[in-house]
Amino acid sequence: MSARAPFDDASCTLIEALKPEIVSFHFGLPDQALLDRVKATGAKVISSATTVEEAVWLEQNGCDAIIAMGYEAGGHRGMFLSKDLYTQIGTLALVPQVVDAVSVPVIAAGGIGDARGIVAAFALGASAVQLGTVYLFCPEAKVTTPHYQALRSAKGSQTALTNIFTGRPARGIVNRIMRERGPISDDAPAFPLAGGALMPLRAKSEPQGSGDFMNLWAGQAVGLKHELSAGVLTRLLATQALEKLTGH
Ligand SMILES: Cc1cc2nc3c(=O)[nH]c(=O)nc-3n(C[C@H](O)[C@H](O)[C@H](O)COP(=O)(O)O)c2cc1C
Repeated sequence: MSARAPFDDASCTLIEALKPEIVSFHFGLPDQALLDRVKATGAKVISSATTVEEAVWLEQNGCDAIIAMGYEAGGHRGMFLSKDLYTQIGTLALVPQVVDAVSVPVIAAGGIGDARGIVAAFALGASAVQLGTVYLFCPEAKVTTPHYQALRSAKGSQTALTNIFTGRPARGIVNRIMRERGPISDDAPAFPLAGGALMPLRAKSEPQGSGDFMNLWAGQAVGLKHELSAGVLTRLLATQALEKLTGH
């Protein structure tokens, strides 16, 4: 079974106890009563938008900053107002349109894998960037062995959006189960149950080193590989981006 569960009273109580500075949601926002409790802790609230409409909705419903999540991004698409994958927008087009539509800061996400992408995002009006896929190569990421091997060999043209692992579209490296049953299937159980249905296949194949039946989340920037720890990578990306932005 999947361990994913919606944000509820128990998770909100944890937020109230730990008081993190930022709370980030995916797939929209929780119910108003829960959101009010989160905001009462003083936390800044952020969430992902995959369209301009979602960005406007998030601002109107209390987000302090918005992640503009382009089509290139790895993992689950944060879409919540639209279910239409065909009209999803790439980062290059999404970020400036979101920047124009909202007054809160915009965090660019999706396909950014090095300093060139960071500089481009700032040129589009982003106030910050969020990188996911590139950090999967860091030793701290603790991805499974088949996932790591797939990441090492994958090219940007080898990822696709699929719903067969969880019931919601997410981008991962194409493997056997995605090829044979997807990548998008009407048979996938509703989120987040699909992973449970695939568990017996995964339990048999993963110990043999096979990534055939498991999610291999990765975005289109998967080809921008490195072998650095997360701290070193973050400092390097910041230094290189600043050099490009300031000219020295
Ligand atoms: C393996 C993986 C897991 C992720 N899990 C989450 C998550 O739980 N919540 C979330 O808001 N975003 C999640 N994301 C999305 C990232 O926060 C980020 O928006 C995205 O990775 C940026 O695109 P990129 O992968 O092209 O860098 C995940 C991404 C990856 C690759």
